[in-house]
Amino acid sequence: MAYYLSRGTLPKAQHTQLWSVDKKLRYEQHWSREGFSDIHSSMYHIYPPTEVKTVGEFVKAPLKATEEKPHRHHHFTTFKFPPKGNWISGRQPNSFNNDVAMYTVCPKENADFFYRNGQADEVMFVHRGSGVVETMFGRLEFHEGDYVTIPRGVMYQATFDLSEEVRLFVVESSGPVVVPTRYRNNHGQIEDWAPYSERDFRVPEWVEPKDERGEFPVLLKLQAGFQHFALAHHPFDVVGWDGYFYPWIFNIHDYMPKVGKIHLPPPTHLTFTGPGFVLCSFCPRLFDWHEGAVPIPYAHSNVDSDEVLYYVDGDFMSRRGIEIGSITLHPQGIPHGPQPGLTEKALGAKETNELAVMVDTFKPLNVAQAAMETDDPKYPYSWLEDA
Ligand SMILES: [Fe+2]
Repeated sequence: MAYYLSRGTLPKAQHTQLWSVDKKLRYEQHWSREGFSDIHSSMYHIYPPTEVKTVGEFVKAPLKATEEKPHRHHHFTTFKFPPKGNWISGRQPNSFNNDVAMYTVCPKENADFFYRNGQADEVMFVHRGSGVVETMFGRLEFHEGDYVTIPRGVMYQATFDLSEEVRLFVVESSGPVVVPTRYRNNHGQIEDWAPYSERDFRVPEWVEPKDERGEFPVLLKLQAGFQHFALAHHPFDVVGWDGYFYPWIFNIHDYMPKVGKIHLPPPTHLTFTGPGFVLCSFCPRLFDWHEGAVPIPYAHSNVDSDEVLYYVDGDFMSRRGIEIGSITLHPQGIPHGPQPGLTEKALGAKETNELAVMVDTFKPLNVAQAAMETDDPKYPYSWLEDA
């Protein structure tokens, strides 16, 4: 997030000595993006952050693309996946390329390890459920509709309230997930007309440092798999930090949709950007008011994008046969749009209650092998009159 935060105890000048009251030197860890040339934060630890107690096993887990290759539209009913594993081991891959990987998760249990994604930034969209993310930067409570955004490298633990069903849509990004440049003025402040403001972003709540020695298991996620290791101290031994690099949360219900006299295309719903993709939020809103308005989209060939839509709630008026938790994947090379009869049905509609998250990628996506378990092979034919 590009605004400055400061937590805990810091030295007066950056990169200078910080001592505890009992005369112990604190250890600085500097976080930076783009090789010390973009946003950064400075963090001070009780123990050196470099201290590793044991290097454990590496478990291979590369994403696997389906062998089934016909190039076609897909509809996955992800709620058919029963609860499985924890919020990491339970991730069901849906689609991926070199820029982004998308998963759905329905965790059955909580985990006791500390987790860090070493090679991807994570956005965890909380479709159902609630819980807390404890991180080196502090604590963030989350609930339905939250985009929990954790930059790579940040150690965290997520604990879910498992007395109710938890459903997540997770996006792993090859780079920072950010507020789009066009929503910012020259000073980085979010523009007055943007669909949200700084007030809508929830940031880490300060937690006192944990001074504990022992063996603390860490799971490090990499593109090729998982590296297990252990630290000799509690990873949340942070006495202070400041800067622009930290985890944050934005809730989809705080997104203020823009509407127009005639239909406005998806850039109107733009929420965040990452390298090679955009993330959009389709929220309940009033429809167009031109006397000849067609409230739902025209068939479109968005020729440079693969489109993934994750359906969260409400009635998605431009799609038939879609369920809550469905994902549609409309790849480049084939147009898509409303199914027969839906445009006529939508004429005169005043508003929509749809809620969905869209990820448009600028490079083709692979369909994950695991996703095919819930694929509807009839979906490509759903645009036929008699389908
Ligand atoms: Fe589309």
